[in-house]
Amino acid sequence: MREKRKVILDCDPGHDDAISIILAASSDQIQIEGITTVAGNVDVEKTTLNALKVCDFIGLDVPVARGAEQPLVKTREFAPDIHGDSGLDGPELPEVPKKMMIDQHAVDFIIERLLDSDGEITLVPTGPLTNIALAIEKEPAIVGKIREIVLMGGGTFGNWTPTAEFNIYVDAEAANVVFNSGVPVTMFGLDVTHQAITTPAILQEISSIGTNVSKFVGDLLEFFTKTYKEVFDFEGAPIHDACTVAYLIDESIFEFETVRVDIETKGEFTYGTTCVDRLHVTGRKPNVKFAHGINQEKFWGLLIKALK
Ligand code: BDR
Ligand code: CA
Repeated sequence: MREKRKVILDCDPGHDDAISIILAASSDQIQIEGITTVAGNVDVEKTTLNALKVCDFIGLDVPVARGAEQPLVKTREFAPDIHGDSGLDGPELPEVPKKMMIDQHAVDFIIERLLDSDGEITLVPTGPLTNIALAIEKEPAIVGKIREIVLMGGGTFGNWTPTAEFNIYVDAEAANVVFNSGVPVTMFGLDVTHQAITTPAILQEISSIGTNVSKFVGDLLEFFTKTYKEVFDFEGAPIHDACTVAYLIDESIFEFETVRVDIETKGEFTYGTTCVDRLHVTGRKPNVKFAHGINQEKFWGLLIKALK
């Protein structure tokens, strides 16, 4: 068997972040070095609490470190309409997790793990990119130890403004640091994640599995589907964040293009836009492996197999 791939999951759970953690924990190809949390869907107190609760629920024994409370420059914005006040509304979980976070800031944890690691580590951010940008700025030597940054964010259209996706919009200055860091970036934006949308048949299949974890994921998806209907009038919910981990397990699920992506940090109407140069009109050096296609059968097959 090939060596496990070391990852740090940097997240703001979040329904789809939680599913991403579960998928990673289920894989014998992935070694989770730690989970770091960031303010995003809700404040960092809550995203940390949610990460700890998910770890408790699935019995995942990895360090959880709390990270940035606010973006580098902008004031905070949250998404309670999508994820509820707790950030993980829907399933019933004990109010107080048994697991404790570690006594180290996420940024220092990321730096230390990378510098101390024998091999490279892949960073998997599924929230705003604040922690990753802070880590790169504080200790540029980590750049050479990061195998790849596999992130959910951006797209050629928006879901928070007409042109900007939530994770990038919340901290566009941080995204700008990450996309220009020189680290290979693989981007799962809305172009692809809006093709990973639940259907009634998928929900039915998940609920028929009948394990505690499948029931938990079913409850997450039920809530998420409800809010996507209310907010966007979608018939299902996109499992955005889980695309990142699905890629780490089976790259062949997705189709990619290598493109230039620049981050808009100044525009009056376009702040937080990922300017994806799909037709190579800028002549600027490509910096992103951009996912644009998905094999839905393989994607759902992977998730359902993990839940079984
Ligand atoms: C992203 O925003 C959050 O609501 C989700 O968890 C995902 O990371 C989608 O725009
Ligand atoms: Ca997220």
